[in-house]
Amino acid sequence: MKPIKAVALAADHAGFGQKAKLVAYIQQLGSFEVVDLGTDSESAVDYPDFAIKLAAWVAQKPEHMGVLICGTGNGMAMVANKHKGIRAAVCRSAYEATLARQHNNANVLCLGQRVTGEGLAVAIVDAFLHNVFEGGRHQLRLAKVYKMEDCP
Ligand code: RB5
Repeated sequence: MKPIKAVALAADHAGFGQKAKLVAYIQQLGSFEVVDLGTDSESAVDYPDFAIKLAAWVAQKPEHMGVLICGTGNGMAMVANKHKGIRAAVCRSAYEATLARQHNNANVLCLGQRVTGEGLAVAIVDAFLHNVFEGGRHQLRLAKVYKMEDCP
């Protein structure tokens, strides 16, 4: 049986609408526990607060994955990648999301509601959730990244 993965989603006001749609989409897939970490409206908030919250949740367990949505995805990725154990990738295509999983073992997907439409966002999320890390030569490269995280 396929292990059930838990996926958390979080957004700022600029990504709130897309988050609501993606929460519903991932829930109806039926194979993931879905956790909504906010925000809950289009009232202005600060994206770092939500990126930090989601990064802490994802870093708890290897089987946790996250999706962050802001205007462009960039701010969310910058913040999330400062958290130990987080490998966040901004993706504008399903191909990038596939390689972010297969080569980089990304555990957080960052989307931009202002630059990526709903249909494409769903395809990107699908690619992210259904591809796996290939290991091998990619594992050796990631080991160098993990080493950096332990540096003072
Ligand atoms: C909010 O206006 C916007 O700056 C934010 O959503 C994000 O795009 C930052 O990277």
